[in-house]
Parts: sequence; C-alpha cells; structure tokens
Amino acid sequence: MIVLLFFQGEKVRLRSVDESDLKELFEWDNDPEARGDYSAYRPISWQDFESKNKNWAGVFLIEELQSRKKIGTILYFSDDHHPYRIWLAYTIAKKEYRGKGYATEAARLLIDFLFKSKNIEKIETTVDVENVASQKVLENNGFQREGTLRHSYFVNGKFNDHYFYGLIRKDWDVFQAGRRGTK
Ligand SMILES: CC(C)(COP(=O)(O)OP(=O)(O)OC[C@H]1O[C@@H](n2cnc3c(N)ncnc32)[C@H](O)[C@@H]1OP(=O)(O)O)[C@@H](O)C(=O)NCCC(=O)NCCS
Repeated sequence: MIVLLFFQGEKVRLRSVDESDLKELFEWDNDPEARGDYSAYRPISWQDFESKNKNWAGVFLIEELQSRKKIGTILYFSDDHHPYRIWLAYTIAKKEYRGKGYATEAARLLIDFLFKSKNIEKIETTVDVENVASQKVLENNGFQREGTLRHSYFVNGKFNDHYFYGLIRKDWDVFQAGRRGTK
C-alpha cells in the first residue's frame, strides 16, 4: 500500500513523490546547477536513476506553498543496523527559490515528523565546510556541529572537508520549547 504524506508550513509544503514527478527529479539529478556547487556531480542514466531510487518512501518534494511549484527535494534514510539514526539531505533545485527560508522550513517540517512518528534518537548529516547556507539550515533547526571529516568528498577536482552535524531527540525537544517561548 502506498501512503501519501503531506506536511504544510508557512512557506512550503512537503509531499510524497509520485510517478508524475520522476521525469523532473531525473532532470534535477542531471543538472549541476540544481545539485549546487558542493555536489560530486556525475551524469546518471535513467536505468541507474530508477534502480538507485527503488523506494521513494523517504523522499519528499518541496513545493512553494503559494504557487504549488516544485522547487526541490528533502529526504531521509536509515540502515537496518542503526535504525535509531536517520540521515537527512535536501536541495532547493531551482536556484531562484534559494535564500527565501524554504530549506530551513522544509527541514523543520520533516524533522518534526520524524521525531514524532519514529522511534529514533538522532538525525545526522554532513555538509561541505564552505556550504554556509546549508550549515545555517541545520543550525536554524538546532543541529550541533560535532566534528570535521577531512578530505571526505572529491568535488570539482579536489578533496573537500565536511562538517558532521547531529540533532538528538532531547535537543530537538529543548529547541522546540525555545521556539514556542519566543513566539
Ligand atoms: C543549501 C540550500 C539547501 C539552502 O536552501 P535555502 O532555501 O536557500 O536556505 P534558507 O533560505 O533556509 O537559508 C538558510 C540561511 O542561509 C543563508 N544563505 C542562503 N544562501 C546563502 C549563501 N549563498 N551564502 C551564505 N548564506 C546563505 C540565508 O540567509 C539563511 O540565513 P539565516 O538563517 O541567517 O537567515 C540551497 O542553497 C541548495 O539547495 N543548494 C544546493 C544543494 C545543497 O547544497 N544542498 C545541501 C547539501 S548538504
């Protein structure tokens, strides 16, 4: 059974991916501008795209709330050995929609859903040390920088360092309480 999920914020809406989105997602995967400056870009065939993404359960489209335009994706996944940990990734694929607070809100909506609906302890991700916008998206949502992974990605002909970020359940609860207090 396919379960379709929607989460609505003030600026964006997240919704489950469906068949009609695949062509656009494939194009974004093959578009260096959509992937951003810090992605190890490699062209991908339709066959590889389909087999890489057999299960769309953890992938959400980010839509601008007002226009309902598809502007990016946010996703999570975990592995069977560490089901209490979830990995988070996001992209605002359409450049003209960056810098409007959309990724910050999309991350907040998904994090809230994950902590409320799953028996998880932690959400993790890594970010290029030069990707300040993405670091802010995480810090805006209570993530802490836990360390530096040296030369962990090969991007544009050089090895780049990444910061490792984590958000544990307790910190999210405190962070949420703080946000409610300032509203
Ligand atoms: C990183 C990315 C997702 C951020 O999305 P976004 O919707 O533009 O982020 P937001 O608008 O929520 O901005 C978050 C913060 O970053 C700041 N910011 C945005 N673009 C910035 C830039 N180019 N340089 C520095 N800061 C920037 C915003 O001003 C905001 O700061 P604030 O919290 O102090 O107000 C988007 O730039 C993107 O998709 N880049 C390409 C793919 C990518 O890097 N994905 C993340 C991989 S880890």
